[in-house]
Amino acid sequence: MTTIHAETSKPYDVHIGHGLIDRITEFIPKKYDKFAVITDDNVAAFYLERVKAALPGKVQGFIFPHGEASKTLETVSRIYGFLSENQFSRKDCIVALGGGVVGDITGFAAATYLRGVDFLQIPTSLLAQVDSSVGGKTGVDLPSGKNLVGAFHQPKAVIIDIDTLETLPLDYFKDGLGEVIKYGLISSKEITSLLLKNDIDSIKSDIFEIVCRCIEIKRDIVEEDEFEHGVRKILNFGHTFGHAIERLENFTGMSHGIAVVAGMKIISKLMHNEETLDILDRISEKYGLTREVNFTESELAEAAMTDKKRNADSIDIIVCEEPGKATVKNISLKELRKLCE
Ligand SMILES: NC(=O)c1ccc[n+]([C@@H]2O[C@H](COP(=O)([O-])OP(=O)(O)OC[C@H]3O[C@@H](n4cnc5c(N)ncnc54)[C@H](O)[C@@H]3O)[C@@H](O)[C@H]2O)c1
Ligand SMILES: [Zn+2]
Repeated sequence: MTTIHAETSKPYDVHIGHGLIDRITEFIPKKYDKFAVITDDNVAAFYLERVKAALPGKVQGFIFPHGEASKTLETVSRIYGFLSENQFSRKDCIVALGGGVVGDITGFAAATYLRGVDFLQIPTSLLAQVDSSVGGKTGVDLPSGKNLVGAFHQPKAVIIDIDTLETLPLDYFKDGLGEVIKYGLISSKEITSLLLKNDIDSIKSDIFEIVCRCIEIKRDIVEEDEFEHGVRKILNFGHTFGHAIERLENFTGMSHGIAVVAGMKIISKLMHNEETLDILDRISEKYGLTREVNFTESELAEAAMTDKKRNADSIDIIVCEEPGKATVKNISLKELRKLCE
């Protein structure tokens, strides 16, 4: 087991190990009167009762249907209703048990209910373990776009039980690998070597090491730039074009991690980062993450430019000049169009 400390505006520890789901009390403050465990139906079937049994005092569960379609203000509103009907106060604690969808919604409910209550992250998907459970970004989607409403709210603790990955469907595991590849390329030759050394059957033997390295990278970046004014943007490597693919396919085509892999390849090709591109090709082939992109680069650039979260006349792109090192470049929309011609 390992503990990684994050020294953010509100500091917390990330605990990573096997079987931690049954040992939650060891990692949380003793001060809470009761707990609300928020989860989705898939994860509830595997882990809700175990988590309930592991927490002290009164514990109540709230289950919503799995999937991105639930990441709405309506679900948050139902959570507020559940919390207030059951008299949850600031002395109590909310627990996010599940993948990134559960983590984002629950974190947002915790950030806003009674102007902010404590919450714990217990991530159960690979994507949530390596990425979304750490860093304090919470939020929901609007009909007009993903993650358009949200808040920064750091958890009190993150408890990562690697064993929960055993029940995660393979497609979601592969999806999480997309983000792992990103971490390797932006910051860690070690992660990239582990990915190159293994294949989809053997990678699980190194997954503890991989999750730890990813969290350390995210921790370092978030400590430096918690509110994403600068360096935190490098975590968006592959996301400008990846999001564009997802949007053009109305979020019913490629999954996020697979789209990010395609996005990393596109930007690396446009910027002539040959070594990065070669690694991306080798790893994505090995793990079955290669997909045909049915849009031209200029179609993708146009879609990226209408993204609601970008600046008026320029866009940040993340470039990986050499594996293990990435930089943020702000380029004008005119330059982006030219690049993609
Ligand atoms: N806050 C952040 O910093 C951040 C970063 C990256 C992504 N995200 C968000 O994360 C979300 C995607 O996360 P995700 O891929 O984990 O999606 P998800 O939460 O929908 O989980 C994927 C699927 O796996 C199931 N599942 C999760 N853990 C399981 C387990 N151990 N066993 C069996 N089934 C399990 C879920 O029920 C779901 O069907 C997106 O909404 C994205 O915007 C947030
Ligand atoms: Zn992502």
